[in-house]
Amino acid sequence: MDSSRFLLMFLSFILFVMIIMIPQTLAQSGYPAFLYNFCINDKGNYTANSTYQENLKTLLSSLPTSNGNGYGFYNLSYSGGESSEDRVYAIGLCRGDVQPDDCRSCLNDSSYALSEHCSNKKEAIGWYENCMFHYSNRSIYGITETRPTYYLGNTKNVSLSIVDGFNQALRKLLVSLQSEAASGGSLRKFAIGNASAPGSITIYALVQCTPDLLERDCNDCLDDAFGEIPSCCDGKIGGGLVRPSCNFRYENYSFFDATTVPPLPSPPLSPPISPQPSSTTPTGI
Ligand SMILES: *[C@@H]1O[C@H](CO)[C@@H](O)[C@H](O)[C@H]1NC(C)=O
Ligand SMILES: *[C@@H]1O[C@H](CO)[C@@H](O)[C@H](O)[C@H]1NC(C)=O
Ligand SMILES: *[C@@H]1O[C@H](CO)[C@@H](O)[C@H](O)[C@H]1NC(C)=O
Ligand SMILES: *[C@@H]1O[C@H](CO)[C@@H](O)[C@H](O)[C@H]1NC(C)=O
Ligand SMILES: *[C@@H]1O[C@H](CO)[C@@H](O)[C@H](O)[C@H]1NC(C)=O
Ligand SMILES: *[C@@H]1O[C@H](CO)[C@@H](O)[C@H](O)[C@H]1NC(C)=O
Ligand SMILES: *[C@@H]1O[C@H](CO)[C@@H](O)[C@H](O)[C@H]1NC(C)=O
Ligand SMILES: *[C@@H]1O[C@H](CO)[C@@H](O)[C@H](O)[C@H]1NC(C)=O
Repeated sequence: MDSSRFLLMFLSFILFVMIIMIPQTLAQSGYPAFLYNFCINDKGNYTANSTYQENLKTLLSSLPTSNGNGYGFYNLSYSGGESSEDRVYAIGLCRGDVQPDDCRSCLNDSSYALSEHCSNKKEAIGWYENCMFHYSNRSIYGITETRPTYYLGNTKNVSLSIVDGFNQALRKLLVSLQSEAASGGSLRKFAIGNASAPGSITIYALVQCTPDLLERDCNDCLDDAFGEIPSCCDGKIGGGLVRPSCNFRYENYSFFDATTVPPLPSPPLSPPISPQPSSTTPTGI
């Protein structure tokens, strides 16, 4: 009697465990969760089995075998037919310290998850910790896009007694990384660094623009992003934000791997100290 009751309890327990575990297992076999994604509603819809959908599928399926520019940036476009109306354009960007295989797999995951999540939208964008993927029916190469914005949250506050000094150190670090990233050239616009703040805090920060931006546009995008620090990050020990064209993040711990950032080819492709304006602004029409 006792043992059959025990058996019943044991079986109930097993059943309970299965019910709890199964959804998690299913979730794990699906796509990793986005940090943030955005189905852009006002840029048009496509219908099931349309040429646009076919083009999007083809473009996405080419990702795993694309090499990008060798520094984590992918500029893709596809149109099966003659009509440019249904052409799909996409940009993929990985964090500068992400290895090529991880980069491709992050972009592959994000692109499929995005097209599934935003199933009838011509334009969509999504971010993971390691990468961003954006597609549209308009050319997005070389265009500064500051919306949508997503705030990277950290709920912990810097203690009041040191917050002014912390903010100063943070601002100084970000501004120096901004100029390093913006002047990084056409392959990569990415910089990481650290700085000491009061209270024995070390601030680690990362800034990045898509490398198709002009230096000036990268600077502007980041200026504008830093302008949101009072909203996203005021007095926080960590924070940042992501946008289609630029992003930054800071923490009081090292969240990147400085040893895996591949060196850029040298010497730099642009001539030194020649402040001539570029006349080759890419057009988006
Ligand atoms: C993108 O699609 C929208 C909605 O269908 C359309 O109004 C717009 O002209 C298209 N853009 C381009 C560049 O084809
Ligand atoms: C696109 O579809 C959404 C619903 O998914 C609808 O609310 C929206 O009005 C549509 N946009 C256009 C431009 O047709
Ligand atoms: C799209 O194609 C699939 C298979 O080719 C079919 O099952 C589905 O009904 C089609 N959907 C529409 C809306 O035509
Ligand atoms: C790309 O993602 C799709 C959908 O998740 C998956 O089926 C495929 O195996 C992935 N390819 C690579 C090379 O990771
Ligand atoms: C990026 O892609 C666009 C088409 O979307 C193409 O016109 C342009 O030449 C590409 N730029 C580079 C540097 O590959
Ligand atoms: C951080 O500070 C804000 C306002 O300055 C306050 O609302 C919030 O509760 C604080 N958070 C913690 C975790 O102390
Ligand atoms: C902090 O930055 C310095 C260069 O400014 C670098 O040498 C050092 O490795 C960095 N420390 C960490 C932990 O990233
Ligand atoms: C970062 O700050 C939090 C909150 O003040 C603290 O608990 C944590 O120990 C700090 N981490 C490091 C590596 O200093």
